[in-house]
Amino acid sequence: MGMFADRMSSVQVSATLKVAAEAERLRRAGHSVVDFSAGEPDFPTPEHVKSAAKDAIDANFTRYTAAAGIPELREAICARYKRDYGVDITAAEVLLTVGGKQALFNTALGLYNPGDEVITHAPYWPTIPEQVKLVGAEPIIVSTSSEDGFRITADAILAKVTPKTKAIILNSPSNPTGALIEEDVVAAIAKEAARRGIWTIVDLCYEQLIYEQVPHNLPKALFDHNRARTVLCGSASKSYAMTGWRAGWTIAPKELTSVFNIIQGQSTSNITSITQKAVLAAVSGSQAAVTAMLNEYRERRDNIHAWLTAHPGIKCVKPKGAFYLFPDISGLLAPGMTSTDFAQALLEKEHVVVTPGEAFDAPGYLRISYATSMEQLREGATRILRFAESLQQAATR
Ligand SMILES: Cc1ncc(COP(=O)(O)O)c(C=O)c1O
Repeated sequence: MGMFADRMSSVQVSATLKVAAEAERLRRAGHSVVDFSAGEPDFPTPEHVKSAAKDAIDANFTRYTAAAGIPELREAICARYKRDYGVDITAAEVLLTVGGKQALFNTALGLYNPGDEVITHAPYWPTIPEQVKLVGAEPIIVSTSSEDGFRITADAILAKVTPKTKAIILNSPSNPTGALIEEDVVAAIAKEAARRGIWTIVDLCYEQLIYEQVPHNLPKALFDHNRARTVLCGSASKSYAMTGWRAGWTIAPKELTSVFNIIQGQSTSNITSITQKAVLAAVSGSQAAVTAMLNEYRERRDNIHAWLTAHPGIKCVKPKGAFYLFPDISGLLAPGMTSTDFAQALLEKEHVVVTPGEAFDAPGYLRISYATSMEQLREGATRILRFAESLQQAATR
């Protein structure tokens, strides 16, 4: 018998930690490191959001709240989804969580039994399958590739359904690819899920970071067809540059929300009272800061995409949302070289930190976060291209 719980044996540590440690070592040794590994906005939290938090402290709003969150915030989230998607939600269906991460984790604890299968798609954000494993269920992965723009089809997802399928988790816009899932694909999945009694979960962490005006009303597509078994997982982290505040939410049927309430009531209780006031200002106040950040990300995306794809060995779908580029660099790899090797050598030779595709179940790719300044993007792109040239010269020598 092991010293620790059996359930921990199959769960991976974050693959990005090793790269981060090496980058830190180089930084301490005085090198100028260009860091493209950030999974968070480089912007400060908007002023009116910070003010609301300061006011909350001054007003001594510093005690326990209801485990699910304060009613006015739950109402404000309902209002936001009504405004953005035209869907009707009641406060009894909303629960505030410690980030989108706990939203997904509550969902895993509240829904999946050991032995259940939970379908999701790759390249994925690793937390999604790891949480499924943490509760003893089995992640079933549908792969997508850059050739078809990381497009997810209903057929590919539904082909994996078995009698053991408990849920389907979708993430759109996707980390790491920036791809969007189409409304009619989600509708088709939801329709079949309803027929079979399967839960549909959507991770909408990047829902406000979509670059073009494209239809992306996934809440409506899910509610129209599988209202009784849908969970929407949201987050304030990326839209409002609030990663450190730790705020997310679930929107789920009342009965399941009560289950989440029990989970949270016996573990973390409410999210920070001060954070709740800040999120209230974020979701119900002006969205101008969101638009400003989105405009800046778009410009960065267009530039870094153009700079890198100037190299014929780098193929890259232009992301439609989030703030990551996910280039296919398999054309640059020498025989036997992996994208992890590539990322390691890039770090050693050029001091550029990227996350290898292996971390997202997608070998042959790199994830480049453009949540960093234009100067850093320019400098990093120069170094990556120089490194790519050096590899090619070595190959032809
Ligand atoms: C796809 C995806 N979902 C959810 C999250 C959760 O973030 P948070 O817990 O900060 O809300 C992240 C953060 O990286 C993410 O990339």
